[in-house]
Amino acid sequence: MPDQTRFLLNESDLPKFWYNINADNPVPPTPVLHPGTLEPVTPDFLSVLFPMDLILQEISTERYIEIPEEVREIYKLYRPTPLLRARRLEKALGTPAHIYYKYEGASPVGSHKPNTAIPQAFYNKKSGIKAMTTETGAGQWGTALAFACNVFDLDLEVYMVKISYQQKPYRRNLMETYGARVYASPTNLTNYGRSVLEADPENPGSLGMAISEAVEAAATSGGTKKYGLGSVLNHVLLHQSVIGEEALKQMEMADEYPDVVIGCVGGGSNFAGIAYPFLRENLKNGKRTRLLAVEPTATPSLTKGVYTFDYGDTARMAPIVKMHTLGHDFIPPRIHAGGLRYHGMAPSICALYDAGHIEAVAVKQIPTFDAAVQFARAEGIVPAPESAHAIRAAMDEALDAKAKDQKRVILFNLSGHGNFDMGAYEAYLSGKLEDYEYPVEAVREAMKHLPQVQMA
Ligand SMILES: Cc1ncc(COP(=O)(O)O)c(C=O)c1O
Repeated sequence: MPDQTRFLLNESDLPKFWYNINADNPVPPTPVLHPGTLEPVTPDFLSVLFPMDLILQEISTERYIEIPEEVREIYKLYRPTPLLRARRLEKALGTPAHIYYKYEGASPVGSHKPNTAIPQAFYNKKSGIKAMTTETGAGQWGTALAFACNVFDLDLEVYMVKISYQQKPYRRNLMETYGARVYASPTNLTNYGRSVLEADPENPGSLGMAISEAVEAAATSGGTKKYGLGSVLNHVLLHQSVIGEEALKQMEMADEYPDVVIGCVGGGSNFAGIAYPFLRENLKNGKRTRLLAVEPTATPSLTKGVYTFDYGDTARMAPIVKMHTLGHDFIPPRIHAGGLRYHGMAPSICALYDAGHIEAVAVKQIPTFDAAVQFARAEGIVPAPESAHAIRAAMDEALDAKAKDQKRVILFNLSGHGNFDMGAYEAYLSGKLEDYEYPVEAVREAMKHLPQVQMA
């Protein structure tokens, strides 16, 4: 069908397996280290935070891992998600390129995050756990886990970065609607939170701090609570592979194959979710799709960060991993893509980027919102500010194809809608948004506080 716009799979096409890049990754994985001893972690250490099923997935090198029927049942509330051809955007840009997008904003909470929240809640429930803790920055991950914990009848406490808690009351209300308890981090509920507040009662919080509080709350619960993380870890990226597996089938329906696959990167999970199944085709079946990760110039962990071992959180309680990092004590600038403000990046993405299998680009905030608004006016969906980074890069690819008079097939992941991000759009539309580039000197300074790992 030459003018088809939406490519829809049947419920029976919902993937039965997650794809694990660690089976095919040509770069051997680097060890995950204990934050105290700096020695490789044991499953015992991880089991304080995670149920055994997730720990086994974290270290697995099996290529395909079966999705439990209970998880597929909940996925069916919104999966398979649609793939669309952005015909009106192509026309507006006057490009010969074909632009496709996979729409993960179709989930009940409006982003890709439930793809991992649902299995995380399921495996915790299965192991007899009754309560989970987590952190959230902009609120998307907290909302997804609140939804999933409600489905599996688990209690949830969310440490929400204080500045977002104040600026985004609707996200907080949404989490509470699903039954979660939400605290403005730093709180006086944890030792770490109290120490921060003692030094600075007005501290606005950061994702690294909120992670520290949620980890502490689980680690000191005597085994009654476990912790859920919305990105970075292998098992999170594994769960997100449903995006790319579906997109492969949908591109086949469109009778095209992408020259470039694009996703924004915070901790890396939605990008890996769409890109890794295509990377498998590159590595095993001779395809040559470019894989492009897009980050803000304000938090440029891949493009400006150093590839080394660093702590996953500010209080140095979470495991140490080898990743591109801006330093664990990174204070994020107040940009409007809250979900992209993490100091590090998923280790497998970093290893693949370092070895040249993945490309990365950093884009500025104002051109990103230019792209978001142009996309909304052409296609109707108002994108999440995070996802708008992928749109900026997709439009730049389409304009480059136009300049070179090339046909190019572009696929990007629209990881979420921006219906709760009107504050950001208001700032943009009223001309209050500013561009910001994170200085190289700040990265150099932060490297003085890295853990002293011998193999770095
Ligand atoms: C809509 C959306 N896209 C992207 C991200 C970035 O996370 P990740 O890199 O794990 O996909 C977030 C994080 O909160 C998000 O809410």
